[in-house]
Amino acid sequence: MDINKIGVIGAGTMGNGIAHVFARSGFEVVLCEVAQQYLDRGMATVRQNLEREVARNKITAGESAQAIARIRGSLERQALAECDFVIEAATEKFEIKAEIFRDIDRICHPGVILSSNTSSISITKIAALTKRPDKVIGMHFFNPVPVMKLVEVIRGLATSDETYATVKSLAEKLGKTPVEVNDAPGFVSNRVLMPLLNEAMYAVMEGVATPQAVDEVFKLGMAHPMGPLTLADFIGLDVCLDIMRVLHDGLGDPKYRPCPLLIKMVDAGWLGRKSGRGFYQY
Ligand code: CAA
Repeated sequence: MDINKIGVIGAGTMGNGIAHVFARSGFEVVLCEVAQQYLDRGMATVRQNLEREVARNKITAGESAQAIARIRGSLERQALAECDFVIEAATEKFEIKAEIFRDIDRICHPGVILSSNTSSISITKIAALTKRPDKVIGMHFFNPVPVMKLVEVIRGLATSDETYATVKSLAEKLGKTPVEVNDAPGFVSNRVLMPLLNEAMYAVMEGVATPQAVDEVFKLGMAHPMGPLTLADFIGLDVCLDIMRVLHDGLGDPKYRPCPLLIKMVDAGWLGRKSGRGFYQY
């Protein structure tokens, strides 16, 4: 099947970035949300990030306008019926994704690949909810999506070679580098990254060092572009907690237990950059 029109579910940080890169690469995009305010905010972010690319001479003003014109917002999931490929980028909760996949399996043509941008939830489990488990796959982008080169492509137990090959080629058409991984809690990226961020939080909680000092160690000593606490704030502390819980539940090893300070901060509504307060104030 030729892939021209992409359905993106969710216009949050990841969803708007995904809509941005598909539209910039010439695909038509249907961006689906549950409320107009989320759609408006997502579209405003796409515009702002495209303008940033124009300002840095990455694309022309004309290309930016064409990209924006290729994105159509919708509050109706039924609009995905006309799409040739769907990527889900909703909240990182299994129940939410389960409801979406059951629904889009009903709405979309049986030949359409249904992918998820999940950062840790089992693709095998999501696929089993549909009548097309061979056409369900993980397509995991990284924040900021327009900048980061990686797409982690996750094969569920039933994912076919054909589905994998299609998604690999799609990622390449976006100018990204796909890396193939098998389905396991947190895949590779978050299996390794999140325990690092979690451990940095323990170091702060135990008074080993301030967030600034921990971050300096990683920026200056290990050449990380952002220290682990700045990165945690950037990703969202709620997202970090959700992922730690997936690792803890899925792998059953106490070494993955979420840091109590992380739990407390999320309970307080300190979610990082997006809420104005996390390990730092914004
Ligand atoms: N959207 C689009 N472009 C952006 C952007 C955004 N939100 N933020 C920055 N950029 C672009 C800038 O325009 C700039 O482009 P050029 O170099 O081409 O001119 C480039 O990114 C660098 O930006 P800046 O010079 O303003 O800032 P910087 O050098 O501090 O880089 C950064 C910013 C790219 C975010 C860098 O700090 C970085 O790489 N941080 C680490 C990000 C990271 O680890 N992301 C993965 C998180 S994990 C995840 O996403 C997955 C998950 O499952 C949790």
